[in-house]
Amino acid sequence: MPKPLDDAAQTSFGYRQVPQAARQNLVNRVFAGVAERYDLMNDLMSGGLHRLWKDDLIALLNPPRGDRPFRLVDVAGGTGDVAIRYARASGPNATAVLCDISPEMIDVGRRRVHAAGLDPRITVAQGNAEALPFPDKSFDAYTIAFGIRNVTHIDKALAEAFRVLKTGGRFLCLEFAHVEVPILDRLYDFHSFEVIPRLGALAAGDAEPYRYLVESIRKFPDQKRFAKMIETAGFARPTWRNLTGGIAAIHSAWKI
Ligand SMILES: C[S@@+](CC[C@H](N)C(=O)[O-])C[C@H]1O[C@@H](n2cnc3c(N)ncnc32)[C@H](O)[C@@H]1O
Repeated sequence: MPKPLDDAAQTSFGYRQVPQAARQNLVNRVFAGVAERYDLMNDLMSGGLHRLWKDDLIALLNPPRGDRPFRLVDVAGGTGDVAIRYARASGPNATAVLCDISPEMIDVGRRRVHAAGLDPRITVAQGNAEALPFPDKSFDAYTIAFGIRNVTHIDKALAEAFRVLKTGGRFLCLEFAHVEVPILDRLYDFHSFEVIPRLGALAAGDAEPYRYLVESIRKFPDQKRFAKMIETAGFARPTWRNLTGGIAAIHSAWKI
C-alpha cells in the first residue's frame, strides 16, 4: 500500500479527525472568533490561574533587569500577556517580538501593548510557529504559552524554536498538561467538559471553540513525552515543572 500524501493524512482537531492541511485554518477560525473576548474568557475559564502561571514563566525566564540587551520571541503570543509581563519585569534594553499567526489576536495584542506604553520595546509580527519569519540565531529566549498544542506539526515548531535561538538561548513552553493528582483529575474533567463549554456559550455565545480548546488539551502529549520531543529537536537539559497539580506545566530547555 503506498503511503498517503502528507496533505491527505488525517490529524486530530480536538477529538475530530481532519485533513492535516485543513487543521491550521480551523484553528485560525477558532481564534479569529474569540479574539475580542479571549482575555475575559481566559480569566473565567482558569479562575485567574493563567495569570499566576504566566508570572511563573517570567520568573523562570528571569530576564535582565539592568541595561544588558536581551531579545525574546514570544510565539503564539496572542493578546500579549507574556510579552507585556516580560517587558515590565526587565530592563530598558530587553525587547520582545510578539509573533502569532492570527491577525485578529495580534490586533488585540498590538492595542494592549500600545495601551501599556510598551510599543518601543515590543514589536508585533505575524508568523507561523512552523516557519518563523526570523533569521537563524536571532533571539536569546523563545517562549510559547498555550500555543504549541494548536500547531499542526509540533516537531516543526520545535525545530524552528531551535533555529531562531542563539547558542546559549533558552526555550520555555507553558502548556496545559496532564493532571497527576487523584480527585483533582476528576474535578478538572468536570470543569473542562461541563463548565467551560457552558461558560463559552454564556459569555461568548458559542460553546464550539471552547470545546476545541478543552479537547486539544487532552490530545497534547503528557509531560514526559513532550520533554522527549524537545530533546529530539536538539535541545539540551529538558526539564519541566508542574503547576497546580499538573493542570499546566512549564517545559524548559537550552540550545547549547
Ligand atoms: C490559547 S492562545 C494563547 C495566547 C497567549 N500566548 C496566551 O497565553 O494568552 C493560542 C494562540 O496560538 C496562536 N496560534 C495557533 N496556531 C499557531 C501557529 N501555527 N503559529 C503561531 N501561532 C499560532 C493562536 O492564534 C492564538 O493566538
